Amino acid sequence: MKIVIDEISTINKMVAKEITKLVKNNPNAVLGLATGGTPLGIYENLVLDYKENKTNYENVTTFNLDEYVGLDINHEQSYHTYMRKNLFNHININLENTHFPTLENPQSYTKLIKEKSIDIQILGVGSNGHIGFNEPGTSFDSETGYVTLAESTIEDNKRFFDSIEDVPTSAVTMGLKDIMSAKRIMLIAFGKNKAQAIKQLINGKEDEAWPLTILKRHPYVTVYLDKEAASLIE
Ligand code: GLP
Repeated sequence: MKIVIDEISTINKMVAKEITKLVKNNPNAVLGLATGGTPLGIYENLVLDYKENKTNYENVTTFNLDEYVGLDINHEQSYHTYMRKNLFNHININLENTHFPTLENPQSYTKLIKEKSIDIQILGVGSNGHIGFNEPGTSFDSETGYVTLAESTIEDNKRFFDSIEDVPTSAVTMGLKDIMSAKRIMLIAFGKNKAQAIKQLINGKEDEAWPLTILKRHPYVTVYLDKEAASLIE
């Protein structure tokens, strides 16, 4: 596992560059995408690159990690809306090639991921170590499916909603096994509230209580951290 510790703005540019490099070399690239606050700067850089260099996303396929259950896909806080607003509306991606897990299609989502094979998976991490919405205690063998959100996740995500009562309590998420099937994984974590999870990943053992520790098994992971997220590494 490679660890990069740098300024947030530098990391955003580095990760975006890896993605555009892949897409330029392989017009049929398959990307695994994350939502939340962390990847916003990466998407900004991808949009800037698209304006400047017209990187072609026409034949790129994307798989998003997760989506809330109980929000309409057009709700302002749905991950469908997030992706359109922050990336898809600003590049020439074909929306038919963009995929999200839904309650109706969990098995077919896993199947399609296997068929297409993700080249680069972007990951954020929850303060409790979740990846996608795979909360602590999730089996390392999990595939795409319905999950109940941890109290700490609802607490973390309430900043995006008017009140905590409005935060969905469940979701559909790509499973840990599906995430691990990606050829390359880039995990990004910024800020002090990610530091404990990052310490578990770097210094701890594989442990289902910390879902991100499954990444220790993956042959090609790069972890991008700002100083605060790296502050508890021994
Ligand atoms: C969210 C998402 C995750 C994301 C994580 C961290 O709830 N389901 O995919 O990586 O929690 O979010 P943020 O980047 O806002 O800290």
